[in-house]
Amino acid sequence: MAKITFITQDNETTVLEANSGSVMELAVQNNIAGIDGDCGGVCSCATCHVYVDPQHTDKTGQASEIEQDMLELDDDANEFSRLCCQLEVSEALDGVVLRVAR
Ligand code: FES
Repeated sequence: MAKITFITQDNETTVLEANSGSVMELAVQNNIAGIDGDCGGVCSCATCHVYVDPQHTDKTGQASEIEQDMLELDDDANEFSRLCCQLEVSEALDGVVLRVAR
């Protein structure tokens, strides 16, 4: 079980728990504002863009090359950016804090 915290652009904080699936699916199922998941999780829309809390980048690891290519197209991306459809829910993510990008 992983506890994942989302902070929206309106500073609304939601803590969700899950065992499996992608973080994007978890966010969409729970109506987290700003996470749309338009492409269904195939890393081609960037509507699941989040910023990983700088203290938690060890939990999420590195973005793949495909994910990095997609993020490069987003002007709001920074070193903490991830596309959360590419983050699989697992124990490793427990306690992670994700801020939803614009
Ligand atoms: S849902 Fe489209 S890139 Fe993540």
